Amino acid sequence: MDYQHPKIREVAALLSAEERLARDGKAIVRAPELAALFAEISSLPADQRASFGKELNSLRLQLEKLAAARQSTGKGMTDIDVTAPFDQNTQEDKRPALLSSAVGSKHPLMIELEIVLDIFQRMGFKTVESRQLDDDYHMFSSLNFPEGHPARDDYDTFTTTDGLIAPAHTSTMQNRVLNKFKTNLETDEPIAVVIPGRVFRNEDLDARHEHTFYQLEGVYVDREIHAGNLIATLKTFLQEYYQKELEVKTQPFYFPFTEPSFEFALSCPFCDKKGCNVCGYSGWIELLGCGMIHPNVLSEAGIDPNKFTGFAWGGGIDRLVMMKYDIEDIRHFESGKLEFLRQFR
Ligand code: DAH
Repeated sequence: MDYQHPKIREVAALLSAEERLARDGKAIVRAPELAALFAEISSLPADQRASFGKELNSLRLQLEKLAAARQSTGKGMTDIDVTAPFDQNTQEDKRPALLSSAVGSKHPLMIELEIVLDIFQRMGFKTVESRQLDDDYHMFSSLNFPEGHPARDDYDTFTTTDGLIAPAHTSTMQNRVLNKFKTNLETDEPIAVVIPGRVFRNEDLDARHEHTFYQLEGVYVDREIHAGNLIATLKTFLQEYYQKELEVKTQPFYFPFTEPSFEFALSCPFCDKKGCNVCGYSGWIELLGCGMIHPNVLSEAGIDPNKFTGFAWGGGIDRLVMMKYDIEDIRHFESGKLEFLRQFR
C-alpha cells in the first residue's frame, strides 16, 4: 500500500517487515511506533488531521490483516515446508537468490537421450525408465544368474545396508517389461521397449570408467525373431543417430541372460575405418552387449519360449555421446563443471 505521509510510510515499512511480523504477529498492532503516530494526531494543524488519521487507520487495518494471516499458520510463523528450496520464514531480502531457469540448461546426456528416444519411438519402441534402486531378484535371479554364479562378479556395484542394489545395468528392467507387455503377444503385437536409466558400478575410475553412467536397454519379442532382426535394428538406429552409412559386426560373447550373446561393434563414424584417435586406430568401435533373450528369462516372465523369441541389448549412452562430440573423458558428465556443460547449450 502506498501512503502519502512520510512518517506513516516509514512506520508501515518498518512494521510490515517480515521478521517482526513473524516474531509476534499480534503485538505488532500495539507497536509503540504506531501508538506514537496516533498520539501525534492532536498536535497536527487542523487541515491535516483528517487525511493523516485516515491513512493511519488504514495502516492499522493492514497490519491487523497481516498479523491475522500470520497467526492462522501457527505461532506466528509459516510452517516449514520441507520441499521448499529455503525456509519460508526467512526475511525476504535474506532469501537465497534462485537462478532463473533461463540461465540453466539441459545436461548434454539428456539432450542426446531425447534424440535417441525419438529415433526409437519412430521405430515403434515404447520407453520405460529404469530405477535407481533395485533388488537381487531383478539384478540377478530373473536374468538367469544362478545363486553364487561367477558372472555375478562382473556387476560389482553398491548396495544399501538393508540389501537393496544400485543397479549395475538396465537389464534389471527386462523381467518387468516382459511381464508388463506380454499381453501384446496375444494380439499379435510385438513387445518393443527401450529402457533408459542411470546405472552404477564399483569401478577404478579413469577417462573411460565412471561409477555412475547411463545405459539404454532394448527388448524386442515376437514370433520368429532372430539375430538378423537384432543387427538390423541396431544398425538402423546407429545410422540415424550418426546420420551416415555404417558397417556393423558382432563377436561371440557371454551374458547369462542371452543365448547366443554378442559384442556389437560399428565401423568408426569418424574415420570410416581408416583409423583415428576415436576408434583407437582400429577402425571399429565396440559399443554394446546384446543377444537373443535366454529362454529361461522369457519363461521367468511367463512367456513361452517355444512360441516366442526375442532380442535385447544394453549399451552406454555416455559412450555414444562421447563419440559424437569427441569428448575425451567420461568423468566430465558427472563433474558439474560449468565450463564443460556450457558448451552444449
Ligand atoms: N547388461 C549388459 C551389461 O551392462 C549389457 C547387455 C548385454 C544387455 C546383453 C542386454 C543383453 O540386454 O541382451 O554389461
